[in-house]
Amino acid sequence: MASSFGVLFVVGVWMMMGSGSYAQLSTNFYSKSCPKVLSTVELVVETAVSKEQRLGASLLRLFFHDCFVNGCDGSVLLDDTSSFTGEQTATPNNGSLRGFEVVDEIKAKVEKVCPGVVSCADILAIAARDSVVILGGPDWDVKLGRRDSKTASFSDANSGVLPLGSANLSQLISLFQAQGLSTKDMVALSGAHTIGKARCLVFRNRIYNDTIIDTSFAKTRRSSCPRTRGSGDNNLAPLDLATPNSFDSKYFENLLNKKGLLHSDQELFNGGSTDSLVKTYSSNVKKFYSDFIAAMIKMGDIKPLTGSNGEIRKNCGKPN
Ligand code: HEM
Ligand SMILES: *[C@@H]1O[C@H](CO)[C@@H](O)[C@H](O)[C@H]1NC(C)=O
Ligand SMILES: *[C@@H]1O[C@H](CO)[C@@H](O)[C@H](O)[C@H]1NC(C)=O
Ligand SMILES: *[C@@H]1O[C@H](CO)[C@@H](O)[C@H](O)[C@H]1NC(C)=O
Repeated sequence: MASSFGVLFVVGVWMMMGSGSYAQLSTNFYSKSCPKVLSTVELVVETAVSKEQRLGASLLRLFFHDCFVNGCDGSVLLDDTSSFTGEQTATPNNGSLRGFEVVDEIKAKVEKVCPGVVSCADILAIAARDSVVILGGPDWDVKLGRRDSKTASFSDANSGVLPLGSANLSQLISLFQAQGLSTKDMVALSGAHTIGKARCLVFRNRIYNDTIIDTSFAKTRRSSCPRTRGSGDNNLAPLDLATPNSFDSKYFENLLNKKGLLHSDQELFNGGSTDSLVKTYSSNVKKFYSDFIAAMIKMGDIKPLTGSNGEIRKNCGKPN
C-alpha cells in the first residue's frame, strides 16, 4: 500500500514536470542572470505612473487579462498584423486595454541590461506589482520564470473566459473557479477596481436599469454617460469614486453604499454569498491586502510556460 502510493506519487510528479505544466516559478529566478531587472522595471513604471496615474491601473489589468487567456504567457501583448489577429481586439479587450507603450519601454530598458533573458510575461507580473505599490497598495515578492508564448488566440480571448461588467455573481464565481481561483480570490482580486476607469459603454445598463444603485450616484454618472447607445460610449468614470488613484479598500465601502460602478462590482454585495467578505474587506484593509496578495500570486501561477516551452521574446509585441 505504502510503496504503491510512493510509486504513484513519483510518477505523478514526473508526469507533471514532463508535460511542462508544472509551475517552476521562483522569486529569485533572475537573481544571477539579470540582477537589475526589478529596479529597471520599477523605474519605468514609476516614471509612467507619475505622469499618468491611470497607467498603474492599466498595467495591473493587462496582467489579469494575460493570465486568464491560456495562462500568464505574455500572449495579450502580441500585436495584430495583416495576417494575424491576436487577443487585443477581442470584445473584452478591444479599445479598452492600455499601457502597451509602457511595457515596450520597460522591455527596451531590460534588454539593454540583460539581452534575451527576461520574458514579457514576467515583465507584466512585475509591472502589475509595482503599480499596486506605487499607488499605495501592499508589496510582495513576485514569482518569476515564465516564458513567452509564440502565438495568441483571438477566439480564446473571445470565448467567455474573461468576465464582463454585466456578469452576475454566479458567473463571476464560475469563471474564476475555471482558473483554479476561489470565490475569496475573486472578491479580493475585484478590489483591483479601487483604481482605474471604465467606459460608459460598460456601465450604461447599470446606471439606467439597475435597481440596487444609490440614486444620487446613478444621477451623477448619467450626466456624463448618455442613455442612447453609441453616444458618449468612451466617456470615462472612475471605478472607485472615493479615492480613484489609491489602492485602498474604499472600493468595498462603495459597494456597501450601492455605489459600485459596474454591475459585476455590485453583484459582490447584493444579498448573496459574498456580502460578508465585502463587509470584512471594507473595514479591514490588512485582510484585503493579504488576501489580494495571495490571490495575485495564485493568478500569476496560471499555466505558465517554463523550461524549454515558449521563448523569451525580443520585442513584446511580436514573436521572435
Ligand atoms: C471580477 C471580474 C471582473 C470584471 C467583470 C471586470 C471588468 C472590468 C471592466 C468592464 C472594466 C472597464 C473596461 C472598459 O472600460 O473598457 C475593468 C477595468 C479594470 N479592471 Fe477589471 N474586471 C474584473 C476583475 C479584475 C481583476 C481580477 C483585475 C486585476 C487584478 C482587474 C483590474 C482592472 C483595472 C485596474 C481596471 C481599470 C483599467 C484602466 O483604467 O485602464 N479587474 N474591469
Ligand atoms: C475594435 O474596435 C474598433 C474601434 O471601435 C472597431 O472598428 C473594430 O471593428 C473592433 N474590432 C472587433 C474585432 O470588434
Ligand atoms: C446569471 O446569468 C446567467 C447567464 O445569463 C443565467 O443563466 C443565470 O440564471 C444568472 N444567475 C442568477 C442567479 O441570476
Ligand atoms: C434597459 O433595459 C431594457 C430592457 O431590457 C433595454 O431594452 C434597454 O436597452 C436598457 N437600457 C439601457 C440604457 O441599457
